[in-house]
Amino acid sequence: MSFARTLVPLSVWAAVALAAPAPEPEALPHPMVTAAPVVPRDFEPGTYVKSLVSGLGSDVSSYVASGIPQYFQDFPTGDKVKKSLGIDDKDLEATPTQVLNVPAYANWTDEGWNVRVHGNVYKLPNATQEKIDDLANVFLIGTDIEDLPPNQQDQARNVTRSIYVVQQPHQNVTVHFENDVSVEPDASGGVINAKGGAQVIKLPYETTVEGDFDTFVKLKNTTGPNGGHMMAGNETKSIQSLNMYVNGTMSGNATAYLVPPTGFTIISDIDDILRVTKIYQPKEGLLNSFARPFTPWMNMPEIYANWSASIPDFHFHYLTTTPEQVTRNYMEFIYKTYPLGSFDTRPLNFSDVSATLQIRRFLLDKIFQTFPQRKFILMGDTTNSDVMKAYPALVKDYPGQVQCIFLRNTTATDDGDLFPYDTSGFEGIDQKQYMFFNIVDDLKNLDIVGGNCYNPNVKQNVTFGFQGRGFGNAAPKQSSVTSSAFGLFVLALALNMLM
Ligand SMILES: *[C@@H]1O[C@H](CO)[C@@H](O)[C@H](O)[C@H]1NC(C)=O
Ligand SMILES: *[C@@H]1O[C@H](CO)[C@@H](O)[C@H](O)[C@H]1NC(C)=O
Ligand SMILES: *[C@@H]1O[C@H](CO)[C@@H](O)[C@H](O)[C@H]1NC(C)=O
Ligand SMILES: *[C@@H]1O[C@H](CO)[C@@H](O)[C@H](O)[C@H]1NC(C)=O
Ligand SMILES: *[C@@H]1O[C@H](CO)[C@@H](O)[C@H](O)[C@H]1NC(C)=O
Ligand SMILES: *[C@@H]1O[C@H](CO)[C@@H](O)[C@H](O)[C@H]1NC(C)=O
Ligand SMILES: *[C@@H]1O[C@H](CO)[C@@H](O)[C@H](O)[C@H]1NC(C)=O
Ligand SMILES: *[C@@H]1O[C@H](CO)[C@@H](O)[C@H](O)[C@H]1NC(C)=O
Ligand SMILES: *[C@@H]1O[C@H](CO)[C@@H](O)[C@H](O)[C@H]1NC(C)=O
Ligand SMILES: *[C@@H]1O[C@H](CO)[C@@H](O)[C@H](O)[C@H]1NC(C)=O
Ligand SMILES: *[C@@H]1O[C@H](CO)[C@@H](O)[C@H](O)[C@H]1NC(C)=O
Ligand SMILES: *[C@@H]1O[C@H](CO)[C@@H](O)[C@H](O)[C@H]1NC(C)=O
Repeated sequence: MSFARTLVPLSVWAAVALAAPAPEPEALPHPMVTAAPVVPRDFEPGTYVKSLVSGLGSDVSSYVASGIPQYFQDFPTGDKVKKSLGIDDKDLEATPTQVLNVPAYANWTDEGWNVRVHGNVYKLPNATQEKIDDLANVFLIGTDIEDLPPNQQDQARNVTRSIYVVQQPHQNVTVHFENDVSVEPDASGGVINAKGGAQVIKLPYETTVEGDFDTFVKLKNTTGPNGGHMMAGNETKSIQSLNMYVNGTMSGNATAYLVPPTGFTIISDIDDILRVTKIYQPKEGLLNSFARPFTPWMNMPEIYANWSASIPDFHFHYLTTTPEQVTRNYMEFIYKTYPLGSFDTRPLNFSDVSATLQIRRFLLDKIFQTFPQRKFILMGDTTNSDVMKAYPALVKDYPGQVQCIFLRNTTATDDGDLFPYDTSGFEGIDQKQYMFFNIVDDLKNLDIVGGNCYNPNVKQNVTFGFQGRGFGNAAPKQSSVTSSAFGLFVLALALNMLM
C-alpha cells in the first residue's frame, strides 16, 4: 500500500529575519564551563562498549569510552562554532536569523485550544566548503568526504552545516497561525483543516540561552474564511490542523495539530525502527546519519499507512532524542515516508549527564500529561536503553494510558547487533499489552483499538533482566549505556576529537 501524501509538504525550518538585533555572542554560556562531566565512581563500562570504541581507532577520548554519552557537553555552541569555522561576530551579523519551528500538538482546555510551540532560533554561518569538508571528515571517521558519491557529499555537507549553527538567546518569537494547510479527506489519520483560528501570537518569553523556545499558548476562537471556526475539542473526534510559521518566514512552515482529549496517539521513535540507522555498528551509524540518504526500515511505511487509515483519528507523534540541530533531516524523511504528525527532538538545555539520561522521559511525561485521557501506543527498539526503561515505567506511572508497547528486537534481523539491553521493566506487564517483534510483518493484523497488541505467532522468549549479549551478564551499575542513535558514541566521539 502506498501512503498518500496529504498535507502541504512541510519544510519545517523557517528562515526569518527577526526584529531584534543579534545579541553579543560572548554572552553565550559555554557548556564546558558550567558542567564538567561527572562519571559515577562505580561505573563499569561494558566490555562491548569498550570493544566498539576501540574498534574505531585511537582518537576516542577516555570519557566517551566510559560509556556515558558526552556530546551534550561538547556539541558545539556559540564561540566554539565560531572558532571551528574561523568566523567572527562581524561575519555573523550579516547573516539572517533563522528559526527551527517544530510541528506542534495542542490540547483542549476550559479556555480553548492550548498549543505547545517549540523550536530554536539560530544563525547559519557562511562557512567555506573547504572548512565544512574538514569538519565533515571528523564525523565520517575513517572515510574522506572526497571518496563519497556526490549525493552523499552533499548530504554530509548539509548535516555538518546544520550542526555548526550559532544559537540566538534572548530573542522574541512571534508565531503566525493560518488556515492554509490543504488536507485530502480521509487521509493522515483523519486530519482535517481547521476552519478558523488564524491569529498572531507573540510568545510570552524570549528564547533561552541556548536559543530554544518551548511554551504553551492559548488560541483565540477567531473566525476563519466563510465564517468558519475551529471546532471545540469536546465536540469533535477529528484532529484539526493549522499552518504555523514564525514571523518573517522565508522558507518552510510547520503545522499545529489540535488533538481532542480522547482517542489514540502513537509515540514513535525513529532510528532503527522507522529508518535504517544501525546505531549498534558505529561506523555504519555514522554513514547512515551523516552521508547516506535516510532509508525506511523494511515495510514499516506500509504498516503506518494502514494504521493511519484504519484507526480512527489516529494521532502520530514522532519522538526522537536526536539533537535538535539535525531535526530537519529527520522531519524531511518522516514527512515524505510516514503519516504526518507532531514532533519532539532533544532540547538543547539538557546538557548535563543526569539530564541526558532523562530527556526521553521528560518529553514522554509532557505528552502524557497534556493528554491524560488519550491512550498511547509506544514504538521503539531494544538498542535504546532509555526506551527500554521509560516505556514499561509509563504503564505503571500512568495507569490505563498505555495501550500497546512495540519493541523491535534488532538482533533478530541483524546479528551484528550485540548491544546489551535490559528487559526487567516488562516483568509483570500483561503480554497482551506489549510485543518484542522481529520483522515488520509481525505487526500485521493486530487489534490495537481492542487492546490486543500481541501477535501469538511471534514467540516471546523474554528473560526479564539485563541481557549482556555475550559480553557478560553483569549489569553495569550505571544503567544507561545509550540514550539515542546519535547519543552514544557517534557525535560524541566525533565532536570530542574536534575540540
Ligand atoms: C465544551 O467545553 C466548553 C469549554 O469548557 C464548554 O463551555 C462546553 O459546554 C463544552 N461542550 C460540551 C458539548 O461538553
Ligand atoms: C559567503 O562567503 C563567500 C566567500 O567565502 C562569499 O563569496 C559569499 O558572498 C558569502 N555569502 C553570503 C550570503 O554572505
Ligand atoms: C539542507 O538541505 C535542505 C534541502 O534538502 C535545505 O533546505 C537546507 O537549507 C540545507 N541546510 C543547510 C544547513 O545547508
Ligand atoms: C521582547 O519583548 C519584550 C516585551 O515586549 C521587551 O520588553 C523586550 O525588550 C524584547 N526583547 C528583545 C530582545 O527585543
Ligand atoms: C468558536 O465559536 C463558534 C461560534 O460561537 C463555536 O461554534 C465553536 O465551537 C467555537 N470553537 C472553539 C474552539 O471554541
Ligand atoms: C513581525 O510581525 C509583526 C506583526 O505582524 C510586524 O509588525 C513586524 O513587522 C514583523 N517583523 C518582521 C521582522 O517581519
Ligand atoms: C508559509 O505560510 C505563509 C502563510 O500561510 C505563506 O504565505 C507562505 O507561502 C508559506 N511558505 C511556504 C514555504 O510554504
Ligand atoms: C529545559 O527547558 C524546559 C523549558 O523549556 C524545562 O521545562 C526543562 O526543565 C529544562 N530542562 C533542563 C534539564 O534544564
Ligand atoms: C493541557 O496541557 C497542559 C500542559 O501539559 C496541562 O497542564 C493541562 O492539564 C492539559 N489540560 C487538560 C484539560 O488536559
Ligand atoms: C531477540 O532476538 C534474539 C535473537 O533471535 C534472541 O536471542 C532474544 O531472546 C530476543 N530478545 C527478546 C527480548 O525477544
Ligand atoms: C490494518 O489495520 C487494521 C486496524 O488496525 C487491522 O484490523 C488490519 O488487520 C491491518 N492490516 C494489516 C495488513 O496490518
Ligand atoms: C529461550 O531462551 C533460553 C535462554 O535465553 C534458551 O535456553 C531457550 O532455548 C529459549 N527457548 C526457546 C523456545 O527459544
